[in-house]
Order: sequence, then C-alpha cells, then structure tokens
Amino acid sequence: MPQPDIHPLPVDHVDTAARRRIGGLKWHLNGGDMLPAWVAEHDLGAPPAVAERLRELVDGGAFGYHTTGDEVGAAFARWAKTRHGWAPDPDLIVPTANVLQGIWTCIEAFTDRDAAIVYSTPVYPPFLDAPPTTGRRAVDWPMVRTESGWRYDLDALKHLLEADPGVGLLLLCHPQNPTGLVFTEDQLVRIVELSDEHDLLVVSDEIHSDLVHPGSTHIPMLTIPGASSRTVTVTSGVKTFALGGLRCAVAVCGDELLHAGFSSVPAELRGGPNRMGCEATIAAWDTGSAWTDGLLALLDSHRHHLHERLAAELPEVAMFLPQSTFVAWLDMSAHEPGENPARWLRRLTGVACGNGPEFGPGGADHVRLTFGTSTELLDEMVDRIVTGLHG
Ligand SMILES: Cc1ncc(COP(=O)(O)O)c(C=O)c1O
Repeated sequence: MPQPDIHPLPVDHVDTAARRRIGGLKWHLNGGDMLPAWVAEHDLGAPPAVAERLRELVDGGAFGYHTTGDEVGAAFARWAKTRHGWAPDPDLIVPTANVLQGIWTCIEAFTDRDAAIVYSTPVYPPFLDAPPTTGRRAVDWPMVRTESGWRYDLDALKHLLEADPGVGLLLLCHPQNPTGLVFTEDQLVRIVELSDEHDLLVVSDEIHSDLVHPGSTHIPMLTIPGASSRTVTVTSGVKTFALGGLRCAVAVCGDELLHAGFSSVPAELRGGPNRMGCEATIAAWDTGSAWTDGLLALLDSHRHHLHERLAAELPEVAMFLPQSTFVAWLDMSAHEPGENPARWLRRLTGVACGNGPEFGPGGADHVRLTFGTSTELLDEMVDRIVTGLHG
C-alpha cells in the first residue's frame, strides 16, 4: 500500500491519481476526470504528526475501547490559547463525534419542542435541516448583499426576535460558510445583548475559525463578556486539518449549568468520538501551529489568485474576496444557470461545485467553489470554467 508523502509544512501540490485511488467523498463521488470543488474539505493534508500517531496506533493494534476522549478537551484548550488567545476550561468541554452532533445535542438539551431556531442564510445546508429534523420551527435571519459583499443586519435580528417570542436558539456560523464573513466584536457584543434580552441559547459553530485571513480576526464567542451563561461553541480540527472521516469534535459549554444540560442528553444517544479521530486531532492541535500558518499563507494566496483571475477573465461572475476559509461564493446569475447551478456548471466545465440553492434563500444562481487545493488544480478549475462559459 503506498504511503502518503509526509511534509513538515503544507505543500502546494495534489497527487490527483493518488486521491482518486484512495477515494473518500470528495474525490470519489463525481468520478472520471471531474474536478471536485464542492465539499468544504481541502486537499492539503495534515501535519506529519497525525499520520505518525495513526501509524503507531495501527501498528500497535490499538482498536479497543478507549479513554482518549478525556484528553481532547485539554488539547483543544491548548490550541485555543495558542491560536485565538482564548483559554476555555477543559472541564466544560465535551468531546463529540462531529460538530453537527454537538448542534443537535444543544437543540435537544436546551429547547422545547415548540421553540424556533434562528440562522442566517445563505448557510451551510445542514443548518437548514436542524429545525425540521428536530420538530422545531425555523426562523430565517437573511444576510444582506451589498455592493461590497455580504453583511449581517443586527437591527433585523432585533426586530425578528421582538416579533417572535418563541425563538429559543440562535445558531451562528462563525465564521460564515459559504460567504466567509467574519463577525466583528461589536456585532458579537450586540448578539450577546439580544440573546440576554430574549433569553436565547447561542450555539456558535466555529469550525472554520482557524482559517481567517489577513485583515480579519476571529473572536471566539465565549470571549465576549456575558456570553458564557448562554453559549455553547462547537468546533473541531476537521476544516483545518481535513480530518472529516475520523470523527472527533468538541462542544465547549460556557458554564457548569450548560455543561450539565448538554451532558443530560445520554451519551448512549449522542454517541462518542472515535479513538483514531481523538488521537489525530490531539496530534494536530499539539503540533500543528506552524503547519496551520503555512496552510493559511497558501489559502490566502489562493483566494486572491481566484479573485483576480475571475475579475480579469469572467467579470460577469461576481465573487467577493472571502475573509475566511477556503470556499468562494460565486454569483452566476449573468449566465442564467437555472434551478441547479452546480449541475449546469458541472456539465459545461467538468468542475463540481456546491449547489447554491441548497444553502437556502440567497443561494439562487450561486455555486460554492472550494479553493483549498493546489495552485495548479485551482488554475485548471478556472481554465475549465472560463472555457466552458466563454468557449
Ligand atoms: C459550518 C460548518 N459546520 C459543520 C460542518 C461539518 O462538521 P462535522 O463534519 O464535524 O459535523 C461543516 C462542514 O463543512 C461546516 O462548514
């Protein structure tokens, strides 16, 4: 079995043949020579310590029951301190299998059946599933598109909460997928005020928070004064280190009451993290800071490169420079892509993007393109899109 190349820092190269051979959701689903840019997963690997630790465990046959989940909270606290200057209490951190599991657990633990959940669209599609799959109501707090990009409207949130006293939970995507928008400190302070006035639980999904680009800063929700008594932050190493298949995440509860509430959903129902996921995540958090700086440098250069190429070669396709992460939210409306813009684009270009309408209101005519790959592949994607749309 070929071993993947191990590099101390991310390398601007993707071995597509190896990717297709090894498989996985991103590289298998569309098959052939389709270029996958649809799932929010980068192709740039993980710090070497991850594979080293996993190999050690495999070689040692470490496949039994485990207690490694107990170490995940402390490892996250070390990472949060190093990367975000935030020192969460490890005793208030619950390991989970994935971030969505943490969100669903919060809904179960902290809201009544008739409560409503607020989120702002366009948004990562599973957020839209949270109310219907848990029997709660959905309340949309739409983002606003301006000449310079997407924005939050905090006054609209205020009016919305005043009009609907049944709202019990505010689900934040912080930073935002698919627009890359990063909340400012003033906005977070205002959200804490509003959540206090309307007795809301805030669930802050910070899975993209390590990947904030120069010019913006991630401010963890739980560092905002007053947030701790009503916030649970859910996050993981999955976006930073491309560990989505390994199943390990954390729910950081703001205080002991929230921790008790979260833990009241039986572990048997919640499930738990996989040992390999815990070990890989701990290795990444404990050794991956310089590696993450390298990744960020690459992604920063990619976002500019993509933005510049589209502006020069496809000016009718609108893209705002994302403040975070490795996805670009592209407005294809000038081409009238129809009801399924991703399918339309895939057929014309051989590039598989995320389908805008699945991100809810605001998603019509859009696709989401994952640029977390090599410069070479990114250029091939743009070449194909330019030729497909203009050729
Ligand atoms: C905002 C957001 N939350 C959660 C997830 C998924 O996390 P997990 O696989 O840990 O549930 C993603 C993946 O794209 C995401 O973008």
